[in-house]
Amino acid sequence: MSVQEPSKNLKILFMASEIAPLAKTGGLADVANSLPKALLELGHDVRLVMPCYGTISPDWLGKRLGTFMVFHGGTHVSGGVRLSTLPGSKVPLYLIEQGLYFSRSGLYQVGGQPYSDNLDRFAFFSLGALEGVAQTGWIPDIIHCNDWHTALAPAYLKVSLRVNPKWRGLPTVFTIHNLIYQGRFPAAQFHQTDLPDSLFTPDCLEYFGDINVMKAAIAFASKINTVSPRYAEEIQTPEGGCSLDGFLRTRSADISGILNGIDYSEWNPSADPLIKAKFSRKLLKGKARCKAALQQELGLPQHDAPLFGCVSRLVHEKGIDLILDALDVLLRQNVQLAILGSGDPELERRLAEAAQYHPERLKVVLRYDEALAHRFYAGSDFFLMPSRSEPCGLSQMYSLAYGTIPIVRETGGLADTVRDAASERLKKRTATGFVFQEPAVDALLQAAQRALDAYAHPETLDQLRKTGMAEDFSWERSSRAYENLYREAIAKP
Ligand code: ADP
Ligand code: GLC
Repeated sequence: MSVQEPSKNLKILFMASEIAPLAKTGGLADVANSLPKALLELGHDVRLVMPCYGTISPDWLGKRLGTFMVFHGGTHVSGGVRLSTLPGSKVPLYLIEQGLYFSRSGLYQVGGQPYSDNLDRFAFFSLGALEGVAQTGWIPDIIHCNDWHTALAPAYLKVSLRVNPKWRGLPTVFTIHNLIYQGRFPAAQFHQTDLPDSLFTPDCLEYFGDINVMKAAIAFASKINTVSPRYAEEIQTPEGGCSLDGFLRTRSADISGILNGIDYSEWNPSADPLIKAKFSRKLLKGKARCKAALQQELGLPQHDAPLFGCVSRLVHEKGIDLILDALDVLLRQNVQLAILGSGDPELERRLAEAAQYHPERLKVVLRYDEALAHRFYAGSDFFLMPSRSEPCGLSQMYSLAYGTIPIVRETGGLADTVRDAASERLKKRTATGFVFQEPAVDALLQAAQRALDAYAHPETLDQLRKTGMAEDFSWERSSRAYENLYREAIAKP
C-alpha cells in the first residue's frame, strides 16, 4: 500500500470503554473526549464508539439506528447501535447496546469488585462495535483502540472470520493508557474471546497460564503507542514493563509515545463556570478567592496556610500510601491538605481515619465529584501527585493550568510535563513544580518542604505559578502526531 498523501482526510473510528462526559472513571475518558474533537478540527471524519451504559443520561442517548447480531461466546448475541453526538461538539458517537452487559450501576466493578463477566462484556463490545458500525455502511480507514477493553478488536480484524468482510484487515492503532490494567482472566474463559484456540500461546494471548487480553492488541495492532514519550520507554524495561516488557520489545519498532493534551475549553480558570472566581496568568487575584471558597466549603480554617490538594483514584500506583505515611510529619507544620478521591476501600478507610485525627488540617472527600475537582485545582496552592507509575497524568496538567504548583514523582508523563524548581531553572524562569525521584516518604517530604520554602517567598511562588500557567498542553500538536501515526499504520504492508 502506498503512503497516503498528507492532505487526504481520514475516516477514523475511535473505540473506548469510557468517554467524558457520558462515562468517566479516569483520564482515558477525558482523552477520548478531547482527542477526537481535535482530530475533527484537523478536518478528519472521526467517529466514536462506546458501550451504552445504563448510567448514561437519557439526553445523550441519540437515536436507535438498528440492531445487529454477532456470534459471541459460542452463541448468537444481539445488540443495538445508537447514533448520538459527543456533547458540545459535532463528533458522531455510536453507542453499543446490550442490556445484559451494560445496564449496571458501575462501568467495570461494583463495591470494589470487578464484574466476574468483564471478559464476556468487553469481548462483546469489541466485536459488537465493529459489527454495529459496519452495518451503518460507513467504513473507516483506521480504527483506534484504547486499553484492554478494546484490545481484542485488532485481533478480530486480522484473524477472525466473524468480522464483517468489508472490515477485515483494516489497520489499527492501539493506545496503552495504563499497562497495569491488562485484562487478565482464567484460561477456562478463553471461548469468550471468540478467537481460535491456536491463539492461546505465549506469543499471542497466553500469559502465565491465564488469558491476557492486552496481548491481543500488542500482537495484532498495526501500531502501538502510549500516552507520553517517557512511558513508552519505561514499559519496555523490566522495571516498568509489568511483565510485558519482553513481549512489547518484540514490537519496539512500532511503539511510540505521544503526550496527551488537555481540553482548555473545559479546563481554563479564566472561563470556568464551576469555580468561585475567574483568574488568569495576568490577573491572578481570583485564585485567592477560589482558595478561600474551597477552605470554606471543606470546613478548613480560612487563614493563609499553604493548601495542598490531591484529586486521584485511590490506588496503590498513585502513591496515596506515601501521602498517608507522610501525614504526621507534614501536618506538624502550619499547612492544610485536602484530598478528593475514591477507590481502594483500605486507602479510603485510612484516609477517613487520618482526617479524624487532624480535623483542622486535613479534609478528605471520598467520592467522585467532577465539579469539586475543578474547585480543588483552582483553590489549592500545591498539588500532590506522588505516583509510583503514571503513564501520562492529566491532573498535574490541570493543576499547572490553574496556577497550582505540582509536586510529582519523576515517572512517565509526570517527568515529561513538570520541570523541577532547581536553582538553575529558577534563575532561567523555566521551573514549574517540584519533582522527586524515589517512591519513598522521605523524598516526598523533602519535595513538600521545598514547596513550603517557596511559599514563604512570594516572588518564587509567583514565578512558578505563572511559568506553569504559560505552558501549552493543547491537543493541537498531539493530534497531529496521532494523524501521522494513523498514516503510518495505514501505509504498513
Ligand atoms: P488516571 O486516569 O490514572 O486516573 P489522570 O491524571 O490521567 O489519571 O486522570 C484522572 C482524571 O480523573 C482527572 O480528570 C481527575 O481530575 C479525575 N478524578 C480522579 N478522581 C476524581 C474524583 N474523586 N473526583 C473527580 N475527579 C476525579
Ligand atoms: C490512564 C493513566 C493516566 C493517563 C490516562 C489518559 O488512566 O493512568 O496516567 O493520563 O490514562 O491517557
